[in-house]
Amino acid sequence: MNEGQIYLDFNASTPLAPEVVEAMRPFLTEHFGNPSSHHWAGTPAKAALERARAQVAALLGCDAEEVIFTSGGTESNNLALKGVFFANRERGDHVVTSAVEHPAILQPLRFLETLGAKVTVVPVDRAGRVNPDDVRRALTPRTILVSIMHANNEVGTVQPIAEIAAVTRAAGVLLHTDAAQSVGKIPTRAGELGVDLLSVAGHKLYAPKGIGALFIRRGTRIQPLIHGAGHEGGRRAGTENVLLAVGLGAACDLARTWVGMPAVRALRDRFEHVLKERLGDRVTVNGAGAERLPNTANVNFVGEVGAKVLARVPGLAASTGSACHADSVELSPVLAAMGVPPREGMGAVRFSLGRTTTWEQLERVLAHVAPPDEIGGRREHWEKIYGEKREDEVSWFQGRPSTSLDLIARTGAGPNARIVDVGGGASRLVDALLDAGYQDLVVLDIAAPALDRARKRLAANASRVKWVASDVARWEPGAPFDVWHDRAVFHFMVTPEDRRAYRATMLRALRPGGHAVIGTFASDGPEMCSGLPVQRYEPETLAAELGVDFRLVESIRQEHVTPGGKVQRFQFSRFVRA
Ligand SMILES: Cc1ncc(COP(=O)(O)O)c(C=O)c1O
Repeated sequence: MNEGQIYLDFNASTPLAPEVVEAMRPFLTEHFGNPSSHHWAGTPAKAALERARAQVAALLGCDAEEVIFTSGGTESNNLALKGVFFANRERGDHVVTSAVEHPAILQPLRFLETLGAKVTVVPVDRAGRVNPDDVRRALTPRTILVSIMHANNEVGTVQPIAEIAAVTRAAGVLLHTDAAQSVGKIPTRAGELGVDLLSVAGHKLYAPKGIGALFIRRGTRIQPLIHGAGHEGGRRAGTENVLLAVGLGAACDLARTWVGMPAVRALRDRFEHVLKERLGDRVTVNGAGAERLPNTANVNFVGEVGAKVLARVPGLAASTGSACHADSVELSPVLAAMGVPPREGMGAVRFSLGRTTTWEQLERVLAHVAPPDEIGGRREHWEKIYGEKREDEVSWFQGRPSTSLDLIARTGAGPNARIVDVGGGASRLVDALLDAGYQDLVVLDIAAPALDRARKRLAANASRVKWVASDVARWEPGAPFDVWHDRAVFHFMVTPEDRRAYRATMLRALRPGGHAVIGTFASDGPEMCSGLPVQRYEPETLAAELGVDFRLVESIRQEHVTPGGKVQRFQFSRFVRA
């Protein structure tokens, strides 16, 4: 990987761990013997194979004889499903699975249906979880096998396998779990899970591709798929791939002793937290609320297309949860089964982290998909305006903002009240508030040049104010405020997403019982301002927009006279936060 590349697709595949490469090296060169041969060339190969089997068994908490090597997750799943079906035909023909399984489960089952199998697919909830009661209800006297994945590859949701095992055990039905994604990431001990069969995929845990394993509980009847000499206890014929088995063994050993998963989880949680902080409800997390793999962040960029979001980040390897066709976007079957609304799921991106992921890499991704201070080029617009125009050249210039001052005074806020003036960089309200004796002031503005100008104007007094250059929708307010003042910012929020984000910031910023004073163009005010469209309000429509958390107390109409002599109709409304 070169400097510019960021790999966040560890659920698709992992690189070989250096320890795995070292363990395999002698088997590329020296040890070439057939593990079934009883001579000097065969015995080291056999010993290495059995050591690898013991290493896999140690990770799975089972006996070595209960582990067979396969070519990967797909083969392990095929062997579990077909092997149990073929070995139990006289007992039954019914198999239960879930709606979020990998194709390596669903396709073999579809094939078995052509041979007479009956398959029941149990649903999942909004977080992707199977309800064990649904499994219980699906069982019939003809059921021979239940196959439910341990952790989902797309969203990372972990299934309640131990609870499902209690159901299958009581019914005398075998339970298989596809643990391709969970082995090496969370505990996957066969005994604790209570499963009869469990699939492992080497390349998901830093071992090579083309190697996997299947745990088959002692005494479980299974028909091999590949017949030949008696390799692997007669359950999978063919001379074993010692080289790859050694790699899988070393990877399992490493997984058992690796203590870094809490660090990966912390990175994932921080990444999701920053995304939420910056994008508000323009981002949702699939599987939120459920137990999830610690490395997986499956995130919907609401109203966007996942592939386009990915394309914004140079050098990023990650996956989308939707497939683009010529003229449409289709949700992945997993997200569809979870009932993710298409408008959200269309924008799904799976970021899957690994042992080598750093915060620096995640920050680079964030800088492209959720830049800290900017929404849709708004900042650029306002920085240009305030960089080029004199203070009294803009139409919204006000020498003394008396309506705002009056309304703030009527909130009853004393001199120690915490007040934020949203979009206040280009206003003289802060001067008037300082004059009036208010001491705890924050001026928030999207345009740093506007703040610079105000600071210069206030000279020594500027240090009495906290200046914040941020888009209101992305601002983290910190300690709660008593008063929120905004003259002519909210009316620029013309998309529902922007209004939601603004409202979310306001809710975070204001203490319960705090006041919001908001001035917007009235319904007979201008339709455009500074070349941008605005949304006009009457007090009632503004109250409806802000919702039940804000109670309208009073409102005042104001006629603003621009420096050019035009009259603009404003309405100022005061709300109390519930
Ligand atoms: C849940 C799950 N099962 C099975 C597989 C298939 O494993 P393999 O690639 O080793 O055949 C994968 C790989 O994507 C997977 O994520």
